[in-house]
Amino acid sequence: MTSVDEAHANYRSKRPLSAAADVEARSVMPGGNTRSVLHFDPFPFRVASADGPHLIDIDGHTYVDLLGNYTAGLLGHCPAPVRMAVSATLETGFAMGATHTVEIDAARLIVDRFPSIEHVRFTNSGTEANLMAIALAMHHTGRSKIVVFEEGYHGGVLSFAHGSSPMNVPHDFLVLPFNDFDSVAAAFDKFGAQIACVLVEPMQGSGGCIPAADGFLAELRSLCDNADALLIFDEVMTSRLSPGGAQQLFGVMPDLTTLGKYLAGGLTFGAFGGKRDILAAFDPAAGGALTQAGTFNNNILSMSGVVATLGEVLTDELIASVNERGDRLRESLNEIFAATDRPLSVRGVGSLMAVHGPDETMELFFHAVLDHGWYLARRGFIALSIEITDAMVNDFLATVRNWA
Ligand SMILES: Cc1ncc(COP(=O)(O)O)c(C=O)c1O
Repeated sequence: MTSVDEAHANYRSKRPLSAAADVEARSVMPGGNTRSVLHFDPFPFRVASADGPHLIDIDGHTYVDLLGNYTAGLLGHCPAPVRMAVSATLETGFAMGATHTVEIDAARLIVDRFPSIEHVRFTNSGTEANLMAIALAMHHTGRSKIVVFEEGYHGGVLSFAHGSSPMNVPHDFLVLPFNDFDSVAAAFDKFGAQIACVLVEPMQGSGGCIPAADGFLAELRSLCDNADALLIFDEVMTSRLSPGGAQQLFGVMPDLTTLGKYLAGGLTFGAFGGKRDILAAFDPAAGGALTQAGTFNNNILSMSGVVATLGEVLTDELIASVNERGDRLRESLNEIFAATDRPLSVRGVGSLMAVHGPDETMELFFHAVLDHGWYLARRGFIALSIEITDAMVNDFLATVRNWA
């Protein structure tokens, strides 16, 4: 059986140009990168071009991209309708500093799509959307305690992977175990009158694609109602699990929802929205006291990307098919792992899933499939794009079967 050292030596020997680029990158960027999650050992390959389902690195290797930019790449790398919308915008001007009509079209598509969103505002990232939603909840309730969950991830400054992170913003967080009904009920008993909001992923994404347990979201809904606290769903990843997001799939409506990732077709994007009376805090005509700054909030390239993505590409049928394909992949991988000695298993919902296992086995799995041209996250995360076909899924399963 291959060792980790052998897997790394094999990887390194096939990628002299990426190795040299890594040395160069480290001379100007700490760790050689500017998005920490993209690093893996011994060094990441550098992409030269990307099209449809494929990435091609500077050493000439082609990969089928099963990672889909951590869910932002749902449409693939260069979707034609988004490219055309952006090209048209490039011709008519894109650095405006004024309002335009494309942001209205984008907002309309989002309000029409997600059942709990009556009014929406845009940001540049999912992190920013969550920061804004928290601030709005604190303003709305006049309280400061924020309930979040262990292993939850809401952005680089809102990360609860190991309880907390030195990078986190200094809010008054109450970090509770996910899917633990008793501890949430106890926290509301003790602190109910101080809780501004509960911020929860309907399925924890970075935390390993762990869905909320049956009844857990409904329990949060009723605890928040009883305590006059707001329920915020972070749907930055999960909004792709059904046409109306996880809130529609699980049948529980939050007060506020945050969005991001794929909704601008791969361009920079974030949004927060929800009940009209809560969002009225941003409406001066309604006496609202809050402002939301942000030079690029309504940047017309991203707004055009949203209109193309939701207006032209993502039909209900397409959303259903990519999620069905993901269910089949997850179930088949679990069958393969169950039939071997490899201590691996897969969790997730629809097109989003994560392989779980001991660190060394995960490292070997990652390099084994990468060596056969399959790219997924080192931590085992997979987010299928609409460019991944049934035939590709079958070929990937064959690769895993041979390795396992
Ligand atoms: C659930 C969730 N919320 C928020 C974020 C942060 O989004 P962004 O990276 O756009 O800031 C992420 C990113 O992975 C996420 O998975």
